[in-house]
Amino acid sequence: MLSRNMQAALNKQIRIEAESSQIYLAMASYSENKGLEGVSQFMYDASDEERQHMLKLFKYVNERGGQAHVSDLVEPAAEFGSIKEMFETLFKHEVFVSQSINDLVHIALEEKDYATHNFLQWYVAEQIEEEAQARTILDKINLIGDDKGGLYLFDNDIKQLNVVSAAAPTV
Ligand code: FEO
Repeated sequence: MLSRNMQAALNKQIRIEAESSQIYLAMASYSENKGLEGVSQFMYDASDEERQHMLKLFKYVNERGGQAHVSDLVEPAAEFGSIKEMFETLFKHEVFVSQSINDLVHIALEEKDYATHNFLQWYVAEQIEEEAQARTILDKINLIGDDKGGLYLFDNDIKQLNVVSAAAPTV
């Protein structure tokens, strides 16, 4: 059985994952409008994946005798300045999500809720991968600089990059 405190913290994370899905959907629209097919597909996939992260938490809360909560969401930005700035925003967002997962792990340990602690390990591993992938993408974009031809090649390149652990979460 989840404590009230743990339940509230998990519900907050459900909201964060749902908002992540919305942010990446907005990024999909932004890049699709720029004619970047590969980047937009990457963002659509990333958005789907965040929904899976949300659902996995959602089902866990209910499974443990709590009640998963569907909240309102903050509307994401529609403009990101440039593709480079968009990926910088994505990276910063993933660092924020990692911090939030760390806070959850901390609460689980404080409360000696080892089941939740165990459940959260999947997210800890996922965040390491997501941050690493965002860093790899940013490195590539920094290499390209302002070169339009480079951006075209990058857009093709990113089609080969599967969103991290696309096969993973079994909800
Ligand atoms: Fe669900 Fe990208 O963190």
